[in-house]
Order: sequence, then structure tokens, then C-alpha cells
Amino acid sequence: MGKKIRSCIFISGRGTNLRSIIDHSKNKNFPINVALVISNNIKAKGLNYAKKNNIPFKFYNSSNQISFEKNCLLELKRKKIKFICLAGFMKMLSSNFIKKFKHKIVNIHPSLLPKFKGLNTHKRVLAKREKYTGCTVHFVTSKLDSGKIILQKKIVVKKNETEGSLKKRVLKQENQLYPKAIKLLFS
Ligand code: GAR
Repeated sequence: MGKKIRSCIFISGRGTNLRSIIDHSKNKNFPINVALVISNNIKAKGLNYAKKNNIPFKFYNSSNQISFEKNCLLELKRKKIKFICLAGFMKMLSSNFIKKFKHKIVNIHPSLLPKFKGLNTHKRVLAKREKYTGCTVHFVTSKLDSGKIILQKKIVVKKNETEGSLKKRVLKQENQLYPKAIKLLFS
């Protein structure tokens, strides 16, 4: 394995997908290393995983999108970041930002895209009595949850499933799918 790709993970909350990517990045055969974590939420639990692993992290307020993206772009340049993973990052990025990292930003979404874009996916899956659900890793474009799909994992929606149980089961799959998709991208 040659040099790892310097990557940044964007988060807003709990950070289980961040944790999984960090854990995998410790393997010498994993294609990326996490050189920076950016959060738009100062209370994001996920920041603890960055701290624990001595990974530089930044918080930027995203209420003003222009200054948020300006701050991010400066830091991404400073840290020589070449690849971005959105992992529970709950803010849209502008097309101007996305253009600067063309085909270099990926996201994970808790549904079988193109079904159930946006928020409250599990609730909507249950309301529609879907037989299957799952998660998707895809490229980020300026259209919400719409870029080219890299990898998906499908699971069966069980009888008596609740929003909570579904969320838990899908998240477990997400934590495995994200590193797998990153490997696939760079293989
Ligand atoms: C994950 O379920 C992820 O798919 C979702 O937020 C959660 C973050 O969990 N992202 C979206 O809904 C983006 N549209 P995590 O903070 O534990 O990784």
C-alpha cells in the first residue's frame, strides 16, 4: 500500500461512523487516513473519538453557510485534505464547495437510495410498510442524497419493528458499509 489519502470526516453528532472509519484507518491496507475532523456542533459526541485518537478537529458554526464553508476550505487546504466523508453531517454543502472537491466527497444515508431521501427515514419506511430497508454510501452532489451510488446494504424490515430498533440495526450495517465503500473506491 502506497501513501494513504489525507481525509477529513464531517460530523454533527454521535459519530459511530466516524469511529468505524478511524478504526479501519489504523489498518495499513486501508486507503485513507483521518487527518482532520470537522463538526458544526460543538457538543457532537463524535469529537471524543477524534480526541481519543489524537486527530486534529475543528468546530465551525454553520448558521452562516458562507463563513462556515470559508473556514472549512481554509483548514482543508492547510491540512492538505484530498477526500471528504460526511458521516452524520446534517447540513447541505453549497455547489461552490462541492465543485472544489469534485468526486471527492462521499456520504452515508440510512435508506436504500433513491428511496427515502432526507430526514426521518426509518419512520417513513415503517409508515410505508416497506419489506426492506438499508443504507447507502454515495457521492455528494448539490442535490440532496442524489449522487452516484457506491455501495448499498439491504436488510429485511422485521415484524414488530420500531423506529428505534430499525435505527439501531441500520446503524450497525452503516458502520460496516462505510469502510467497505471507501476501500472499494480506492481499489
Ligand atoms: C447515520 O444514521 C447517518 O446515516 C445519518 O445520521 C446518522 C449519524 O450517525 N445521516 C443522515 O441522515 C444524513 N442525511 P453517527 O453520527 O453515529 O455516524
